[in-house]
Parts: sequence; C-alpha cells; structure tokens
Amino acid sequence: MTDQAESLRSAIRERAFREPADSRSASARVVAVASGKGGVGKSNITVNLAITLASAGKRVVVIDADFGLANIEILLGVVPEYSLRDVCAGRADIRMALTEGPLGARFISGGSGFSGGPGMGDAARNKVIQSFMFLDRTADIIIIDTGAGISENVVGVLAAAGETVVVTTPEPTSVADAYGLIKAACAADPGRRPDFSVFVNRAEDAREARGVYERLDRASRRFLSMPLRLIGWAPNDPNVARAVKRRQAAAIAYPDTAFTRAVRSAAMDMIGQSAPERGGLAGFISKLFG
Ligand SMILES: Nc1ncnc2c1ncn2[C@@H]1O[C@H](COP(=O)(O)OP(=O)(O)O)[C@@H](O)[C@H]1O
Ligand SMILES: [Mg+2]
Repeated sequence: MTDQAESLRSAIRERAFREPADSRSASARVVAVASGKGGVGKSNITVNLAITLASAGKRVVVIDADFGLANIEILLGVVPEYSLRDVCAGRADIRMALTEGPLGARFISGGSGFSGGPGMGDAARNKVIQSFMFLDRTADIIIIDTGAGISENVVGVLAAAGETVVVTTPEPTSVADAYGLIKAACAADPGRRPDFSVFVNRAEDAREARGVYERLDRASRRFLSMPLRLIGWAPNDPNVARAVKRRQAAAIAYPDTAFTRAVRSAAMDMIGQSAPERGGLAGFISKLFG
C-alpha cells in the first residue's frame, strides 16, 4: 500500500518537475466510453470519436480496456506489437505499446487475458501508474473503451474518469442496463459531481433518440440527483458494418455517412464543453489506484 502511494506521489512529483508551471494544469482529459449492454456500438463510437478529435488537432490516445476482446485493433486494421498486458508484465515500455492509428490517433491494446484494476498485483499496478503518467505528457484526450456491464473494473474506471459517455440503443434492455451502470458508478463514488453524457445509437430518428435520453435523464435526476447530457445520437447506418468489414474506421471509409456525421457532432460537443474539474490524468490515476 505505502509502496503504491509513494510511487504515485513520485510520479506526480516527476511530472510537476518536468513541466513548466503554466502548462501543468493542462492535464489530459480522461473520457470513458461505457455501456450496460454489449454490442451497442461503444468500440465503433470510440474509434471514430478518436479519429475525429485527432483530425481536429487534438492529441488522442485510445485505451482498449475491453480486456480480452481486442476490438480497437480489429476495427482499425492495425496489429499492435505490444499491449498493456506486456507493459504490466515488464516486457515492454508504454511507448512501445502506443500504436499509431489513422490520422495520428494512437491507441493502446489491452491485450488478451489482461485483468487490471483491484485484482492487480503491486508491481503491475506501479508500472501502470507510471505508464499512465507518461501519457499525460503526450495526450490531450485519453479515451477509454471499457467492457460492457457492471464489473468492478468497469465501475472503478467510470468512478475515476473525468467524464463518461454512456452508449445505449433504444432497446429497453439496453436502456435499463445503461441506467444500472450509471447508478453503480455513482454508488462507487458518492461524494463526486459526475459528468455523464448519453449517446443513443441505432435510433429510428431524432425523436426516438430524445425519448430514450429523456427517460434516462428523468430517472437519473429523480433517483441519483444527477442530470445527464445528450452528447449525440446516430441512426442505424449500414455503412458502419461495411467499414468494420473493410477494417477501416467509418470516419475514414465513409466520411459523409450518417454515423460519421453523428460522431463528428459528438466530438465537437466534447471539445466545446470545458473539461470537468476532476484533476485530469493524475486525478484519474489517484482515484483508480489510490
Ligand atoms: N449506428 C449503427 N448502425 C448500424 N450498425 C451499427 C451501428 N453502431 C454499431 N453498429 C454495429 O453493431 C455492432 C457492435 O458494435 P461495437 O462497436 O463492436 O459494439 P460494442 O463495442 O458496444 O460491443 C457492430 O457489428 C457494428 O457494425
Ligand atoms: Mg467493444
């Protein structure tokens, strides 16, 4: 325990030491993309959000934290040499695991069989902490694609992240699971002012998307005293599956298709919103591992 705390403190000290005072507050924004139910479009939204933000000049790093499922690399058609798993095992440096994707967006594969979070040993944990601090110097926005569901790992990431985009489809099961996830993340950190936004994917039209958002927002205000924001919605778009089959991001293969336009608008919304005061990456790490 003391070991961890000390390594975290020294990592933060190191960062403070290396950076000029005026840039110190500009810590990377940590955005989690999550869903209750699986298969709702999280990974596609993550990848295309990242590419759009990168093309807008942001330094973006995606972390594929849907461990074992290696989604991001398949969607991008890029084979990473090393993963977060190798970093934890001491087989690679974080720089070696940072893999170049389209338009300068970079990503880090989780690696199959990796399990982070509370079950992690001290040595692995310290490596991850130090690795993450390095990311603070090289990224403006870190997007974490989490696994579906309400596992301890996912909830831990959401409670620590500065902001979370919850993805749901209009299906009642997906909406119910999205609410369950928001509730679990709030329960994990009762003292905070969380920043949750909703992305409604595969809706019939704007009206259906708004209805889904309003249902979630109403429940969240009433039972969790927390308003939600609608960050965007996308219709069913056959070009998403086509892009996946081509192993290209929709934003690259179909820059003008409805899904790409929807994600672009969500990215612009994200840039327009100032980052919540959650201490950036250092805050994320101390909450996740502290
Ligand atoms: N807006 C959309 N329109 C049509 N198909 C979509 C859309 N969004 C996602 N999909 C499809 O849904 C499937 C699951 O998407 P994915 O991003 O892997 O979900 P998750 O990461 O939540 O499991 C993919 O096969 C993808 O092609
Ligand atoms: Mg996925």
